[in-house]
Amino acid sequence: MAAKVFLTGASGYVGGEALYQIAKNFSQHQLKCLVRDGQKAAAISKLYPNVEIVQGDLDDSSLIEQKARDADVVFHLASTKHESSSKAIAAGLSHANRKSPGYWVQISGASMFGTPEIKANRYGESTDKVFDDVKDVKEILEVIKSNPARVVDNLVLSQDSAKVKTALIPGPMIYGKGHGPINSRSIQGPELARYALENGRLYMVGKGEAVWSNVHIHDLGNLFTLLLEAALEKKEGLWNEEGIFLPENGSMSFGDISRQILKAAVDQKLISSEEVESLQPDKVNQIMPHGAVLLGTNAKLKSSRARRDLDWKPSGPSLAEDIPGMVQDEAERLKQR
Ligand SMILES: NC(=O)c1ccc[n+]([C@@H]2O[C@H](COP(=O)([O-])OP(=O)(O)OC[C@H]3O[C@@H](n4cnc5c(N)ncnc54)[C@H](OP(=O)(O)O)[C@@H]3O)[C@@H](O)[C@H]2O)c1
Repeated sequence: MAAKVFLTGASGYVGGEALYQIAKNFSQHQLKCLVRDGQKAAAISKLYPNVEIVQGDLDDSSLIEQKARDADVVFHLASTKHESSSKAIAAGLSHANRKSPGYWVQISGASMFGTPEIKANRYGESTDKVFDDVKDVKEILEVIKSNPARVVDNLVLSQDSAKVKTALIPGPMIYGKGHGPINSRSIQGPELARYALENGRLYMVGKGEAVWSNVHIHDLGNLFTLLLEAALEKKEGLWNEEGIFLPENGSMSFGDISRQILKAAVDQKLISSEEVESLQPDKVNQIMPHGAVLLGTNAKLKSSRARRDLDWKPSGPSLAEDIPGMVQDEAERLKQR
C-alpha cells in the first residue's frame, strides 16, 4: 500500500533536496508538500506533477495537524524552531484515532554545541570535543535538554516512543548546490563567498580556529531517504533517544574556509587579495546575522549512527572540492542581479 509522506520546506534548500530525492526514489508513495507561496507552488507542481501541494503556512496549526495525522511520515524541514507547527505535528502523529505510530524527521542545527563558548563570549578558538552520535548520546541529550531555547528539539525528544517515532538531525554546515526546485543555495559558505566578491576581501572571527563539521547537501538528502526507507520498514532501534543523527563527512576551520574562498576567487581572477582579516564577534554579527555563532563557535561531530545502522555512505565532493564551484556560482549570481 502506498505510504503517505508530508514534507515542509519544499521550496527551501534542505527541504528541496529532500523533495527531489524522495520524489525520485519513492514514486510509488504519496508525497504532499506544504508550500505557502502560490508561484513557488506552481513551479514545484510543474516539475513534480505527482506531488500534492498543500498550500498554506506553518502558522496554520490545524492544517498542519490534519496533514500530520493523515501521514505515515512527516519531514519537518522548513524550520528548526517553529514551535506551533512542531506542536501540531506532534498532535497529529500521536492522535488517538491513528492505527499505527507516526514517524517524524526534524531538521535541527548544530549551533547548540557552541553554547559554552557563547556563554563565555569566546569565539574563533578551537575546542577538543567531538560529539559522536553513538558514543556520546547521553552528552548530546544533556546538551539539548539543558537548553530551554531548544524548544523544538526538546519537543521532539519528549514524544512517547510508542506513538511517535522521531529522528532529530542537527545539521552542521551544509554545502553544495542542492537539487531543490526553488532554493538550491546554502547560507554560511555562499554568504562568505558573496562578501568576498563584493568587497574584494574576507574576514574570520578572531583567530579563525573554530571548526564546524560539514556535510554535502546530496549526502544529507540521501540520509533522509534512508530514514524514510527505515520508517516504511518499521526498523527498530533508530528513533527517539536512539534517533539523533549528526550528519558529517568532514570538517574545516572557518579561517581555512575563508582562505580557500579567497584563493578560489583569486584563481578565477575575480578579486586580487588573499588576505583574511580577523574581526571581533560584534563586527561579524553586523556583517552576517548570527555570524559570531555561525562562523566562530565549534560543532565537531562524528556521524557513526547513520553509517552503522543505515549503511549511509556519504560520497559528495568535500567542502574543499566544492569551494571553487561555490565561488563561481556566487559570481554568476552577482552578475545576474
Ligand atoms: N542551510 C544550512 O546550512 C542549515 C544547516 C542546519 C540547519 N539549517 C536549518 O534548516 C532549516 C531549513 O534551512 P534551509 O537552508 O532549507 O532554509 P531555506 O532555504 O530558507 O528554506 C526554508 C523553507 O521553509 C519554508 N518556510 C519558512 N517559513 C515558513 C512558513 N511560515 N510557512 C511555510 N513555509 C515556511 C520556506 O518557504 P518560502 O520559500 O516560502 O520562504 C522554505 O521552503 C532552517 O531552520 C535552517 O536554520 C540549515
